[in-house]
Amino acid sequence: MSELIKAMESCFNQQIYKIILSKPKKKSAENIMSYKKITISQINADYHLEKFTDTQVFNENLNEQALKDFLLIALADDFLQYNAWDQQYEYIIQVSKKGKLSASKKTVKEAPKMAINHNREKNYLLKEGVVIEPLIDMGIFTKEGKVVNTMYDKFKQINRFVEIIDDEIKNLDPDIPLNIIDFGCGKSYLTFILYYYLTEIKKMKVRIVGLDLKQDVIARCNESARKYGYEQLSFELGNIHSYESEFPVDMIITLHACDTATDFALFNAVKWDAKLIFSVPCCQHELNGQMETEALSLLTKYGIIKERTAALMTDAIRGSLLEYCGYKVQLLEFVDLAHTPKNILIRARKAKSSEKKRNEALNEVNQVIQTFSFKPTLYQLLDAEGMIK
Ligand SMILES: C[S@@+](CC[C@H](N)C(=O)[O-])C[C@H]1O[C@@H](n2cnc3c(N)ncnc32)[C@H](O)[C@@H]1O
Repeated sequence: MSELIKAMESCFNQQIYKIILSKPKKKSAENIMSYKKITISQINADYHLEKFTDTQVFNENLNEQALKDFLLIALADDFLQYNAWDQQYEYIIQVSKKGKLSASKKTVKEAPKMAINHNREKNYLLKEGVVIEPLIDMGIFTKEGKVVNTMYDKFKQINRFVEIIDDEIKNLDPDIPLNIIDFGCGKSYLTFILYYYLTEIKKMKVRIVGLDLKQDVIARCNESARKYGYEQLSFELGNIHSYESEFPVDMIITLHACDTATDFALFNAVKWDAKLIFSVPCCQHELNGQMETEALSLLTKYGIIKERTAALMTDAIRGSLLEYCGYKVQLLEFVDLAHTPKNILIRARKAKSSEKKRNEALNEVNQVIQTFSFKPTLYQLLDAEGMIK
């Protein structure tokens, strides 16, 4: 370890803005860690970690000391390669398979793009200080373009949501119109911001419809859309359950559509063959009220554990059912748990997938349904539509 500490001392400094840990060690029985790669970006005085498995990304923030401790353990146990960049040098630590250590640095020729800027505000797609009028009306920004204190968490969530969408659509042709529905749009902060971002910043052709059950909210949102000349943004009063779109839908989004409203939204997307789905569920109560199991009674014995297990299973089942329906699916932690406990985002993109993979996904769902004797809404909807074979 002392050799590693020395190597780390020569290859880490406070100016480093990007680190990549790669070449994971082969797993032993004791080493259950399955991250393929970890990327680390400096944000202000802290560091943001993205830990990649085959199918998921886990996020974590660490301060400098905690990061150093983390890096030492990661290099001792889990990874063979460390690359780090400051403005001048690239620092490299390599561990051979036999455990031999080498540390070096070279002048930077091509540094990786900063995934996250040094300044937290600058990192947001929507920057403070830029006056975006609808956001002032909505009470998110002050007239000077500053984020209103009490809206900071919402601002952060929406920025992250848009960032995740941006990442997925960056290769699309901006001239091919993209039709989007926001199910359960509520006050429509996300809907307006997404419209603004896609049309005014990305210069894309989009049509967005926000749908909600609340008449007054829909009327107000339509008024705002008209006021700002957002011709392709409209709001409709209606129920996700029975909604029929007048146009082909490319993407659906949901942010905190309550309980099974998310299932109906996902079902619509599948039925309409939407290419992209971005969904942050909440209030996943359905399975908690139904689940019973003798085999795994430990998970239903304590109310709090049952509730959380049910909520997690709800989203895992949704993810797997989307895989079965031919989507490539990731479940991401979309903002820190400290900001909201409703922080899982289901990201799904229609993709070619083998029948074997699809059936595996369905089998996983069937097994859990059998074990816990529940009937998830999305499963029932797909089954009733003859989509579950
Ligand atoms: C928690 S709010 C979230 C609003 C907004 N997406 C946001 O994140 O600020 C959930 C919204 O979903 C709407 N909603 C719930 N079930 C619905 C359904 N079946 N059809 C349409 N809207 C629904 C509610 O009226 C509410 O406005």
